[in-house]
Amino acid sequence: MTSTNPNPSSRFESAPYIPPDRIFELTAQYLSDPASPKVNLGQGTYCDSNGQPWILPAVAAARDRLAATGLNHEYLPILGHPVFRTLAPRLALGSALHATLSSQIATCQALSGTGSLHLAGVLLRYLQSQTSPTSPLPKVYIPTPTWSNHHQIFTSLGFEVATLPYYSATTRSLALEPYLATLAAAEPNSVVILHACAHNPSGCDPSLAEWRQIAQTVKDRHLFPLFDAAYLGFNSGDLDQDAAAIRLFAGEEFGLEIGVCMSFAKNMGLYGERTGCFFLTTHQETTARNTESVLEVLQRREVSNPPAYGAKIAALILGDEGLTEIWKEDLRTMSGRIREMRERLVEGLVQFGAPGDWEHLVRQTGMFGFLGLDEEVVKELREEDHIYMADNSRVSIAGLNPGNVEYVAKAIAERLRKRNA
Ligand code: LMR
Repeated sequence: MTSTNPNPSSRFESAPYIPPDRIFELTAQYLSDPASPKVNLGQGTYCDSNGQPWILPAVAAARDRLAATGLNHEYLPILGHPVFRTLAPRLALGSALHATLSSQIATCQALSGTGSLHLAGVLLRYLQSQTSPTSPLPKVYIPTPTWSNHHQIFTSLGFEVATLPYYSATTRSLALEPYLATLAAAEPNSVVILHACAHNPSGCDPSLAEWRQIAQTVKDRHLFPLFDAAYLGFNSGDLDQDAAAIRLFAGEEFGLEIGVCMSFAKNMGLYGERTGCFFLTTHQETTARNTESVLEVLQRREVSNPPAYGAKIAALILGDEGLTEIWKEDLRTMSGRIREMRERLVEGLVQFGAPGDWEHLVRQTGMFGFLGLDEEVVKELREEDHIYMADNSRVSIAGLNPGNVEYVAKAIAERLRKRNA
């Protein structure tokens, strides 16, 4: 008999304990909280007016059609679903610009927003290793505040990340001057992460005139604009309006090479299917073709080939006029309900006497609102009132509904009044 050491050493001993991701942890805490009422304003997922996950009618119809036509479970090509790969960039660029640029686009399906951003980083790192292996990677400029995953996606790939002031807590709006000044001083060839619309978490987007100033600075400094486009159509209910910045940068006026990381998690409610793509517009056809061949190799060695189901659904919706119309209505439903909830929340905060001015919540757009509460209040709301939100008091407005908005407004107002007493 061989004796086994009761306490063998492990080759994994050096693993440190890393606390769980706060956004996913909040969801887990909310789900395991037995209290009633309870409200989840943490993770950005759309719920219906009863607080339940919503399957978009366009998605339900596409699923039925897929089931009826014999869904199989074969591999997709390495670069992804061919129809999806054509129609996703067309959605972002609009038909006219897409037609002009079509031979200059390189596209690879990717694992939603995170996977697309990661793939963009892997591509930039690969190209740098080919052209100047001894030079440092370009800096990646990321707005402050930003989505909690941006920093770690790029730092984990070895990029140095620099912050770009974006939001003024005093004016509760875009801090355009420091933003432009930082961009204007950025090292040429740096990468700039731009939220195409529905800035997460602040809910403050540049106006078209401000986007023009940003595009001009990006062009003057030879920066690479990399759009995180997770909310097209979801923000305003209008796809063209939400894609305006992407089209401005890539279109005739600025003619920039851009990268776009698209996710269909929010705008199609395909959260778990990891449906997205990364595409680039380039100045030359050969460059596009070659870059796509590089993306194919990078994809193969990272995930082999992307998940099929969500891409099949999205391709059906984007490729069928009837389904597209249903989807556009779904987008109006989601964005309209969020707008209504913003207004109801502000009305409630005022009605229950919450100290302060809350109009900024109505000016903000997209899925999130930034309440501006300190962490202690956020903690009390979670522990005493069972209202869950990110520690920085970002709230997913999509978690509010006619049945809970008053409860939330009252709880916030009472906590704030108590503090001020
Ligand atoms: C969020 O910001 O809450 C969502 O985009 C979910 C996530 O992955 O962080």
